[in-house]
Amino acid sequence: MKIAVFAGDGIGPEVTREAVRVLEALGLPGLELIEGDVGGAAWRKHGHPLPPQTLAIAHAADAILFGAVGDFQCDHLERALRPEQAILGLRKELGLFANLRPAKVFPGLEDRSALRPEVAGSIDLLIVRELNGDVYFGEKGIRTLPDGRRQGWDMMSYAEDEVRRIAHVGYKAAQGRGGRLCSVDKANVLETSQLWRDVMIEVSAEYPDVELSHLYVDNAAMQLVKSPGQFDVIVTGNLFGDILSDQASMCVGSIGLLASASMAVGTKGLYEPIHGSAPDIAGQDKANPMATILSAAMLLRHSFGREADAARIEAAVAKALEDGFLGGDLGGSHGTRALGDAVLERL
Ligand code: IPM
Ligand code: MG
Repeated sequence: MKIAVFAGDGIGPEVTREAVRVLEALGLPGLELIEGDVGGAAWRKHGHPLPPQTLAIAHAADAILFGAVGDFQCDHLERALRPEQAILGLRKELGLFANLRPAKVFPGLEDRSALRPEVAGSIDLLIVRELNGDVYFGEKGIRTLPDGRRQGWDMMSYAEDEVRRIAHVGYKAAQGRGGRLCSVDKANVLETSQLWRDVMIEVSAEYPDVELSHLYVDNAAMQLVKSPGQFDVIVTGNLFGDILSDQASMCVGSIGLLASASMAVGTKGLYEPIHGSAPDIAGQDKANPMATILSAAMLLRHSFGREADAARIEAAVAKALEDGFLGGDLGGSHGTRALGDAVLERL
């Protein structure tokens, strides 16, 4: 079990440390952890956010546990050298096109949601976000127009095969859950979305047992706070998925609770909390490690087929939360290490 550990910037190292302790406590056969530098930390050491030696570790590993990247001291750098390029580069280089972001309210935490408890209690959804295309990876730049005005531009596009492969991930996920797939786009305005919708409908013929619906992204954002319980699986593009998953996290209660898996074809995957590097609280034992610990559970499930171990971790996290082990993000006062300890004790 070769697992690359890329802790990154800000709170990344703290939250990753707790997830690693959890993995080590399970007594996994042949567990091998290989650390690598990413983000601003890697740029300081090697002059690049995703240096070749890190990429080599990523290629050689069966799975990657990722902390967070982002460092405002790098804001002056050209885009290619910014910390975010580490995660974007890994997603692209490893072909990690399918991002799974489950959002479920933990028992006892209904009142921590930004929504009313009776609304929040019904949340149990999965966002399937396409991760290799869209406006994220299109041609982009800032250019000067003939009249001297500067213009920023980012090209949004999806090829039909890119949509088709994420559609299959969405349909299969729905088959394994409640059998309902909601495709989110902006087909009333964008041609990219029209193609997206056409392909979603085309692929639906192969999944007669899955009920397909469509929502425009603005309506989806509204429905997500109005009645989040209506959603089973949401499938959407890179940008809309980025935005909706942050929104879903606050419906659950905190961005510190949401884990994610980014899968290539096969079992290779990168696992990371959906949150960022939170430099304002870095190094202060304030960050919530639960999202990263839950990402380690997803790693065991999706890359190694160790469902029982994954479920054990998830149960330990749920129990720790139920027993009142909450960080500042959820109105509690427990620190990063104390939360990790609480999970380990229950494990
Ligand atoms: C995420 C993050 C990244 C994204 C950033 C750090 C590039 O927000 O994983 O959701 O936009 O995909
Ligand atoms: Mg995001």
